[in-house]
Amino acid sequence: MKKRTYYVTTPIYYPSANLHIGNTYTTVAADVLARFKRLTGYDVMFLTGTDEHGQKIQRLAEAKGVTPKEYVDVIVSGIKDLWKIMNISYDKFIRTTDDYHIKGVQDIFKKLYDQGDIYKGYYEGWYCTPCESFWTETQLVDGNCPDCGRPVEKTKEEAYFFKMSKYAPRLIEYIENHPDFIQPESRKNEMLNNFLKPGLQDLCISRTSFDWGIPVTFDEKHVIYVWIDALSNYITALGYGSNNTEALDKYWPADIHLVGKDILRFHTIYWPIMLMALGMPLPKQVFGHGWLLVNGGKMSKSKGNVVDPVVLVNEFGTDPVRYYLLREIPFGSDGLFNNEIFINKINSDLANDLGNLLSRTCAMAEKYFDGIIPAPTAKENVDDNLIECALSTPKKLEDSMDKLRIPEALDTIWELVGKANKYIDETTPWILAKDEDKKDRLGTVIYNLVESLRFISVCLVPFLPETSEKINKQLNVDIATWDSLASFDGTQAGNKVQKGDILFPRIDVEKKIEELNRIKEQNKAAAKKTEMQPIKDQITIDDFEKIDLRVAKVLECESIKGAKKLLKFKVDLGGEQRQIVSGISKYYKPEELVGKSVIVVANLKPVKLMGEISQGMILSGATDDNSKLFTATLDGELPAGSIVR
Ligand code: ME8
Ligand code: MG
Repeated sequence: MKKRTYYVTTPIYYPSANLHIGNTYTTVAADVLARFKRLTGYDVMFLTGTDEHGQKIQRLAEAKGVTPKEYVDVIVSGIKDLWKIMNISYDKFIRTTDDYHIKGVQDIFKKLYDQGDIYKGYYEGWYCTPCESFWTETQLVDGNCPDCGRPVEKTKEEAYFFKMSKYAPRLIEYIENHPDFIQPESRKNEMLNNFLKPGLQDLCISRTSFDWGIPVTFDEKHVIYVWIDALSNYITALGYGSNNTEALDKYWPADIHLVGKDILRFHTIYWPIMLMALGMPLPKQVFGHGWLLVNGGKMSKSKGNVVDPVVLVNEFGTDPVRYYLLREIPFGSDGLFNNEIFINKINSDLANDLGNLLSRTCAMAEKYFDGIIPAPTAKENVDDNLIECALSTPKKLEDSMDKLRIPEALDTIWELVGKANKYIDETTPWILAKDEDKKDRLGTVIYNLVESLRFISVCLVPFLPETSEKINKQLNVDIATWDSLASFDGTQAGNKVQKGDILFPRIDVEKKIEELNRIKEQNKAAAKKTEMQPIKDQITIDDFEKIDLRVAKVLECESIKGAKKLLKFKVDLGGEQRQIVSGISKYYKPEELVGKSVIVVANLKPVKLMGEISQGMILSGATDDNSKLFTATLDGELPAGSIVR
């Protein structure tokens, strides 16, 4: 019989910085789905990769003085290392700089153009470079990107557009008729009500203001919008646009695209519409998972609270990190990463529950039977409870995994771990061992424990692959297939148990947290030294000439009632006096600046801040963490009103 197929993808990551625990979470979850399907008999394609084009990457490379390709090569190799240490079993790693992908994307663009879905026009609006997203004036929130809250840039350029609106009714119908397509359910309504139903605008899908992207074959000054480029990876990876489409025929449509909620919109609106236009079936499901938060909220570099998975793996090993992510974070909602909870979980669930079960079982087998696993010849009623629990575990696991309830799946496995530990207390092997007549019964107890652990280790394959292997090795398991869990007799009596290292040593919580904090501070200090804000796009001398910088002498300075951050200045500009409002009261007492010469942007359009007019801006610079700020001055005296350039 032909094997059923399963195609799972992660987002392809921007190689703009080292990946953090949030990105790791997505990939580990996808890995579990892939491994589970392989275990249960599917032919699996698990795809991950990197999204390497776009303005953001180009700027980062420029700031470092290297080519974009040189820049991404280094980070991509770090990402591959991370997946290796996280034990990610991807079948294919796609880079959007790979030749076959570039060709595939160019084919897609050309096809859509030839069939009239793409037309050339002019784009005028706003662009969020970190998100690589276009926005209209009305979509901005307080003038910033509605997705990430960061500043946007005004963009005006010739561009190609995709007639999204043409496909919108079909997509709405599709989403409404396929309740599983967007998951979780709540996210589906958000997509329908906030984006689709109010009406889709045509999407701008090319840029001319930078060149780190895939060129449009028939109009080379245009590069293809990075999201069109990126989303296509799910089919180019399978051979779309090449002369070998075997994998595409076999695995497409994808069973699941796993994505963070921030990019659900791209995957449930733009991507399906692209596929409809290409005449291809839509993915069966797009699952938007939540955020992994740290104590201070969302992880961000500026807050200095980014959790580095490499540090965690170095300190704790791969499986504890996987375990925490999978068991503690409800799949689909936001979850918390917290060192203390993490370490306590390792101690209680891994070291105590699972680790002790294995070490006690091995120790008893060695002590009472020289390690030779006895045959189960003396069954008693108390065994039934344990055996039933073991036999019902695979089915329960399958049900949970079908619903993508990963923590629930682990709960099920730990129920069996708990039952097996309880079984030791109920059967008291150490008392049986005192009575030669009870040898058969003692042997049966040991057999049942080993067999239960075999069930546990097979079930753990998708979640904690390394631990599963270690258990198999210590118990000398030779049958570790999913099918072998249909009956409680897969352990071979006569095999020899080999007690090995402790699976999970207990950790001193306080000491370890101190150590982690120390490592974090060290890494933070090291990162500070090497990191730099990307330099903005070049301007000409004419652009610069538009800015009128002047020396201004501070005459008066006072705080503004009700405005915590603001100071109100009266400055002398030579020929005139002006009022300037500046958000620097955290750094200066009003009197500190009186009498000083500062540099101001003198031709900035006046604005009102908290009811006070501000006619200019004082130049200043702050440290990364905003703890210190200094105003710009000259290193000698110039009269007020002097030009600075
Ligand atoms: O968006 N918790 O790439 P990316 C959980 N290149 N998930 C998080 C997270 C957190 N704290 N922070 C980020 C891109 N993520 C595009 C994808 S796909 C065709 C192109 C998730 O590197 C985020 O939600 O910015 C997203 O799913 C993934 O990391 C990649 O983010
Ligand atoms: Mg992102």
